[in-house]
This record gives sequence, structure tokens and C-alpha cells, in this order.
Amino acid sequence: MSNSKVSLPVIRRLPRYFRYITELKASGKTRVSSSQLAIFMGSTPSQVRQDFNCFGGFGQQGIGYSVDLLYDEIEHLLFPNNHIDAVLIGAGSLGATIANFVLTETEGVNLKAIFDNNPNIIGKNMSNIKIFDVNTLVNYCKENKPDLIIICIPKSGAEELAPIIVETGVKGLWNFSHYDFSVYDKSLIVENVHLRDSLMALSYRINHVEEE
Ligand code: NAI
Repeated sequence: MSNSKVSLPVIRRLPRYFRYITELKASGKTRVSSSQLAIFMGSTPSQVRQDFNCFGGFGQQGIGYSVDLLYDEIEHLLFPNNHIDAVLIGAGSLGATIANFVLTETEGVNLKAIFDNNPNIIGKNMSNIKIFDVNTLVNYCKENKPDLIIICIPKSGAEELAPIIVETGVKGLWNFSHYDFSVYDKSLIVENVHLRDSLMALSYRINHVEEE
């Protein structure tokens, strides 16, 4: 059961719940309480129940939650069609790392094709996936309808490609470039990943420990 008005912070907590529940399932645990989940999440049992209530509650309180049921329900929320198809733009160092990560460490995401504008690498393979000319991206997407595009190119390239990306009809972008796609089209669903932001926040925190 999903609710379209679920807030972004709750959605962002779902993968962490799922990670913990996956570990519990792998260790053979069958039930977990909201207090145990709260310890893992660094929150409170009431916050856990409130989060789960956004999706119908996930079972009975008092005797805890069924780990199998939580796993199935949250997996279904995160990947409603069992899997999502992705393509990646930018077959450089970052693109290679991300492609490898998606292929080996994520379940539910199928990386189908890679695109680049460098004639020296177009036609070759990266992580056993073919690299296509970025000029064929729109046609590829119209034909194959991937769910998301992973952007691993410099900011200038991303800005240049923004109209083409909108033309693909793909709804979601996993964006590692430093270009803000919402400037071009607010309807795109974008997850921006900036390692430097995370590092700078850590730097601030270790230098202002007493203020926390
Ligand atoms: P790289 O130079 O190794 O690879 C970039 C690739 O993108 C090349 O294969 C290039 O041919 C391709 N490319 C460039 N413009 C293109 C376009 N318009 N269409 C299609 N392909 C295009 O660079 P690297 O190390 O892979 O980094 C890529 C970008 O990712 C950098 O600009 C960097 O700022 C950013 N980055 C972001 C991080 C983050 O945390 N968000 C972390 C590391 C890098």
C-alpha cells in the first residue's frame, strides 16, 4: 500500500530500513520490534511506527514486525516492478566505477547501455556493456524505455545534454554531474549525488564538534 503524499524524508529512510532488514533476514531473524529498528535508525520507536503507517503499518504492533513481510513490502515499494532499467552517460573513470557498482552491488537495477561522445571509445565495452554514441540516446530510450539515466559527465556536458535528456522521456536521473537539471525542467525526478558536499559537511562537523 503506498501513499503518493509520503514525504521525502520518509522515502529517504526506506533504503536504510531495507538495508537493516536485509541483514536481519540473512541472519535468520524472523521478527523485529520498532525499538530495535529505532536503534539502527538512530530514531525512536514512535518515529518508526509513524514511518511505517505511511504505508499501511506493515503488520501488528506489540509482537513486532515480521522480517519477511517487511522485506517484501519495502522491496515492493522501492522496486514495484521487480527491477528498473537504467542507462549511463559518461564512460570515464566515474562512469566505470558506477557501472561496476550497479552491476555488482545493486539488486533491482539493470544497466542496459552506456553512452559517450568520445569516438575513441564508442563501440567498445565497459563492464561488458556496449558504449553507444550519445547521439543515439533519444532513439535508444524511445525504443527501449529505460526508467532512469545515470549521469557521469562534466557539468558543461550535462547542461548541453539537458534538452536531449528531456526528449528521451525518461523520468528519473541519478545525477553525479554538478549541473542542476531542475533549472532546465522541474518535472524531472533527480537524485543528485555530490561526494564533495558530504566531505565538506563532515569537515564542518569535525571542526565544530562542540556546537552539535
Ligand atoms: P572522465 O574525464 O574520466 O570521464 C568523463 C566521460 O564523459 C568521458 O568518457 C567523456 O568522453 C564523457 N563525456 C563528456 N561530455 C560528454 C557529453 N556531452 N556526452 C557524452 N559523454 C560525454 O571524468 P570522470 O572522472 O569520470 O568524472 C566525470 C564528471 O563527474 C566530472 O566532471 C566530475 O566533476 C564529476 N564527478 C562527480 C562526483 C560526485 O560526487 N558527484 C565525483 C567524481 C566526479
